[in-house]
Amino acid sequence: QRRDDAPPADILEKYKVDDSKGYMSSDVGGPIGDQASLRAGGRGPTLLEDFIFRQKIQHFDHERVPERAVHARGAGAHGTFTSYADWSNLTAASFLSSAGKKTPVFVRFSTVAGSRGSADTARDVHGFATRFYTDEGNFDIVGNNIPVFFIQDAIQFPDLIHAVKPRPDNEIPQAATAHDSAWDFFSSQPSTLHTLFWAMAGNGIPRSYRHMDGFGIHTFRLVKEDGSSKLVKWHWKTRQGKASLVWEEAQAVAGKNADFHRQDLWDAIESGNGPEWELGVQVVDEDKALAFGFDLLDPTKIIPEELVPITPLGLMKLDRNPTNYFAETEQIMFQPGHVVRGIDFSEDPLLQGRLFSYLDTQLNRNGGPNFEQLPINMPRAPIHNNNRDGAGQTFIHTNIYPYSPNTLNKGYPLQANQTSGRGFFTAPGRRVTGELLRELSPTFNDHWSQPRLFYNSLKPVEQQFLINAIRFETSHIRSTTVKQNVLAQLNRVSHDVAVRVAAALGLEAPAPDDTYYHDNKTAGLSIFGEPLPTI
Ligand code: HEM
Repeated sequence: QRRDDAPPADILEKYKVDDSKGYMSSDVGGPIGDQASLRAGGRGPTLLEDFIFRQKIQHFDHERVPERAVHARGAGAHGTFTSYADWSNLTAASFLSSAGKKTPVFVRFSTVAGSRGSADTARDVHGFATRFYTDEGNFDIVGNNIPVFFIQDAIQFPDLIHAVKPRPDNEIPQAATAHDSAWDFFSSQPSTLHTLFWAMAGNGIPRSYRHMDGFGIHTFRLVKEDGSSKLVKWHWKTRQGKASLVWEEAQAVAGKNADFHRQDLWDAIESGNGPEWELGVQVVDEDKALAFGFDLLDPTKIIPEELVPITPLGLMKLDRNPTNYFAETEQIMFQPGHVVRGIDFSEDPLLQGRLFSYLDTQLNRNGGPNFEQLPINMPRAPIHNNNRDGAGQTFIHTNIYPYSPNTLNKGYPLQANQTSGRGFFTAPGRRVTGELLRELSPTFNDHWSQPRLFYNSLKPVEQQFLINAIRFETSHIRSTTVKQNVLAQLNRVSHDVAVRVAAALGLEAPAPDDTYYHDNKTAGLSIFGEPLPTI
């Protein structure tokens, strides 16, 4: 079985092909004399026997693989993550085990709704996916530039995406937030409001990928060598400063240079000004998941930094552009399920669904189960298991006893907990019990307090910016019912927002609704009957 302890740069190096020298050959190595097809007579038909023609055209016909179902438009780069310290007080993850420890990374930034050829500056949530090639396997933080998500249960993801993708009949519009169905879904599903508010503020139109923060969104677990665990939220803080475009710029740029963000990242790296982000975590004790007035398993909620400050763990710098967009940026397969020892999931129902979805869609995107063998997906750590065969298999396995347990191969490959004792992924103390239910916990029910908290945290000029964005986008809605539903939901967040948007739409804002308002100083409604922490 192939083993490879080399960092990914060297793995990629081995796969590079230099077509700038030598003679032209077919895919099986025979020399090709010229570039004309084989025909019967000077003016006759092309012959079926012309395998050189058929091989070339067939390869071309199959050049395109399906684009990602979401996040199809993106750009990526290589870099390095450096740990600030030995974080074994928090996690057994090896890439955080000593000060100065360096781990190669690849990051892909993206928009969500547009197709692969769409404009970079469309208003949208932006993807921020990072792969750490650690010495104990690949670890991915598949996050966004907004710390919350639209929905709480993964079973609603197809609905969300069907609502924001272009219309089925005419494929218009490319922009996620610019049509009736998107706002119909947002206003019928109030869990979307918090993310929507972040997107309508500058986060939907960042100045560049370099000027965005990143978030893991879900609560995860960090697990120590002794098996004890804490709940954490991942944060990437940009060292370039956070900045967004204004809408007029975003629109003009989309026309003048649809590759604006892609180009910015490429040029920054080429000129030696590769961007940097600090990785940090908010750490919470396992028994504090309900301590803040909302549920830490609910991905539509932030933990205010005033309540739990961020612990900075290390620094990432991107400093190398891809050699080949398809081989690296397109073929990288991020998965929230790619975790390493020392990092565990939580029971967040959105995360739980994602753990199935990415693996499944990537089987489709690659036509087979061996996509982890593509050079950009190969881990630095050696691979030993009994997975075999399948389309695109590139390993030549030599173990003729590919099953466990076995005696004929002395039990190899051994389970890690039979050898080093360093095998666990799942936090040993994790417990789940309960009755089967098809409903979310009532601790997920407050959809309005945190968007209000977000709105109140903005300066007046930023509030105006957000309101202008909602006004612009909702002015395209044709259905009066949808417009009224939007106003009803905005009114639950803030009567002020509802009045100001209604004025632009030429409609009446609903009367203030006290059911949804509280002191605006807490992170959530007091749904547990407990006094809430004040921020
Ligand atoms: C792709 C983030 C929720 C399904 C992506 C990518 C990112 C991302 C950054 C692009 C990765 C890349 O650059 O290759 C998120 C975040 C979510 C979320 C932060 C919520 C917190 C979901 C859910 C589902 C889902 C709930 C499905 C149940 C997908 C699929 C892809 C994708 C199918 C395409 C993957 C591929 O083809 O490689 N997501 N996503 N996502 N996401 Fe999500």
